[in-house]
Amino acid sequence: MSKRIDPDNRRRYFIVGSVILEIVTPVFRQRLEKDYKSKGVGCLQDFINSKPVIHILFHLRHTNIKCCVDSTNCRNRRKLPLNYSQWDLLYTENPGPPKHHCHCLYTTNNVKLDDLDVTLASLILLNCCNLTPNEEISIKELREFKNNYLSHNIKGAITEKEYQTLWNDLMTYVLQLDPSKQDDFIRIQNRPLDDSLCNKYFVCLLDIHKKLEEISDKLESSTAEILTAINGQSNMELLTKLEEILQYVRCQSPKEKTDNHGIKQQTPIQPYKLGQPIVTLHHQINLTSVVNTSWKVTDISMMDDGRLVMCLPVQSRLLICNTDGSQVESIHVQGYPWYAAAVNNSTVAVTLWGIKCIEMYDINNKLKLKFISLPGIMRLDSGITAINNKIVVGGENRLHIIDYQTGKVIQTITTKCNPGRLHGSGDRILYCDNINSNKMYWYSYTNARHHNLTLPSPPWDMTILQNGSLYVVCKDGSVQHVSSDGKQYKPVKTLQTTPGCDGIHYNLTQRKLMTIQNKNRLVTVYNEI
Ligand SMILES: *[C@@H]1O[C@H](CO)[C@@H](O)[C@H](O)[C@H]1NC(C)=O
Ligand SMILES: *[C@@H]1O[C@H](CO)[C@@H](O)[C@H](O)[C@H]1NC(C)=O
Ligand SMILES: *[C@@H]1O[C@H](CO)[C@@H](O)[C@H](O)[C@H]1NC(C)=O
Ligand SMILES: *[C@@H]1O[C@H](CO)[C@@H](O)[C@H](O)[C@H]1NC(C)=O
Ligand SMILES: *[C@@H]1O[C@H](CO)[C@@H](O)[C@H](O)[C@H]1NC(C)=O
Ligand SMILES: *[C@@H]1O[C@H](CO)[C@@H](O)[C@H](O)[C@H]1NC(C)=O
Ligand SMILES: *[C@@H]1O[C@H](CO)[C@@H](O)[C@H](O)[C@H]1NC(C)=O
Ligand SMILES: *[C@@H]1O[C@H](CO)[C@@H](O)[C@H](O)[C@H]1NC(C)=O
Repeated sequence: MSKRIDPDNRRRYFIVGSVILEIVTPVFRQRLEKDYKSKGVGCLQDFINSKPVIHILFHLRHTNIKCCVDSTNCRNRRKLPLNYSQWDLLYTENPGPPKHHCHCLYTTNNVKLDDLDVTLASLILLNCCNLTPNEEISIKELREFKNNYLSHNIKGAITEKEYQTLWNDLMTYVLQLDPSKQDDFIRIQNRPLDDSLCNKYFVCLLDIHKKLEEISDKLESSTAEILTAINGQSNMELLTKLEEILQYVRCQSPKEKTDNHGIKQQTPIQPYKLGQPIVTLHHQINLTSVVNTSWKVTDISMMDDGRLVMCLPVQSRLLICNTDGSQVESIHVQGYPWYAAAVNNSTVAVTLWGIKCIEMYDINNKLKLKFISLPGIMRLDSGITAINNKIVVGGENRLHIIDYQTGKVIQTITTKCNPGRLHGSGDRILYCDNINSNKMYWYSYTNARHHNLTLPSPPWDMTILQNGSLYVVCKDGSVQHVSSDGKQYKPVKTLQTTPGCDGIHYNLTQRKLMTIQNKNRLVTVYNEI
């Protein structure tokens, strides 16, 4: 979104967009689930596949057709509310007799509740479910709401006047469907603007297809021209989305429609070489000369100027040095600094072993800037990472997102394990419990879901590389290269750490990778090839 937008208007847009994506969408999905469960249907796929539902939805997409079965219930609509990508998400056509076309030819895809966006969920609710009159009104209004304020809102802004008129309605309709959402409204309303999340939501909510239709004569021009036509915006996500759409439109000749299940399922174009070497040795810092007592580096972080900050709990200090090991300095910490994250060019935030707090240090003048007491985090082994100008720390079965300026917890995300090590970048927070589970997890802001992957050995530390793939250090000392979708992995043979408790950290800006090998008392710095 362009910089000219008044930040207050943008924040209002962010709030309304968040309500649609974080409250309304889940409420719709839950209502849908409640409906089919009440009919004794176990899952969405079975529901979508049931005869009455497939028949109704078929006629929301196809016109002038008399079906071969149940023909009394055929409807002929002039306007087709279900679009191609929605239909293709739900159903796949099977070969049938020539000239025969009806719902009997389709089978249901493996579709999950989470695959349904707010529009598609509302369509199914309104057409295929038993709703009370009030529910029906609320769902219709909320769907209209998205159309009126978000789907065509290419500015990503909502003025105060508009906001005043819409907010009460929005709240009333949602609470009519689910009165328990009151607290979520308050949380979202008080949340500060998060630019990158706002950009994501913007792309998610804008109906780019509609916009493209309006400028269809430009379809064959370059994406850059289309961007200019839209709003002169330069937004990477929008650009990526447009590229996807252009490709989709170009490929989408009518013949190919049945084997194209829509944009969502397109696979990345580039080939994926997992496990191949991507770094070369830059420097090995032998810490024996620096620290000659028993020691352990529990975490490492990189500052703006490329300096490294390491946690040495046994010595109660943070060690600062250049990547070639020169200019070693240290900051004394009262307690055991356990994990550290750089929050800006001069500040690190640190969690301490045994104390539920975060401390912030200025590494230039070596002063403690802040002590933030956080009763909700884990007393031992609470990971920390910085993402979008916020700090994330691990609590019992949850992640806490903290505004480090105010020290307030602004969001809590529940997890299925106690997050020890954390690493955040872009829209993902990676975590693992550092106990003995072979699972690593990540939370994605884009779909507000947790994902996991089982590795050959318990993961100990992880980091995100340039293109979204991951390096994970496991307890057996291996480094696994995990694909950006988190589905595949391969060991990186050229990178071994020592079995035990080591660490890994990649810095996107400096394009450097650091590994900790405690057994050898080494911190190794690599440059990306
Ligand atoms: C179809 O509807 C979805 C909403 O469910 C929307 O995001 C998408 O842009 C529409 N696709 C087309 C091709 O109109
Ligand atoms: C991602 O990065 C890895 C390592 O740099 C590389 O091997 C792989 O080809 C990249 N994949 C894509 C899709 O760019
Ligand atoms: C690190 O330095 C110490 C003492 O200077 C030496 O004994 C040790 O072999 C070195 N370690 C490595 C891996 O080079
Ligand atoms: C340990 O290191 C200190 C300096 O950090 C040095 O003065 C001392 O001699 C070293 N001791 C041993 C046994 O190497
Ligand atoms: C990477 O380094 C840049 C500056 O070089 C710094 O701003 C950033 O915080 C570092 N990122 C991480 C994840 O350490
Ligand atoms: C730190 O960042 C601020 C703003 O981002 C900048 O004004 C300042 O010059 C930077 N300081 C150093 C030492 O790089
Ligand atoms: C870095 O963050 C700290 C803690 O919030 C703050 O006090 C300091 O002014 C910031 N420094 C810069 C250069 O932004
Ligand atoms: C891991 O992911 C699978 C597939 O999404 C899910 O069914 C399972 O519950 C997850 N496990 C944990 C422990 O989160």
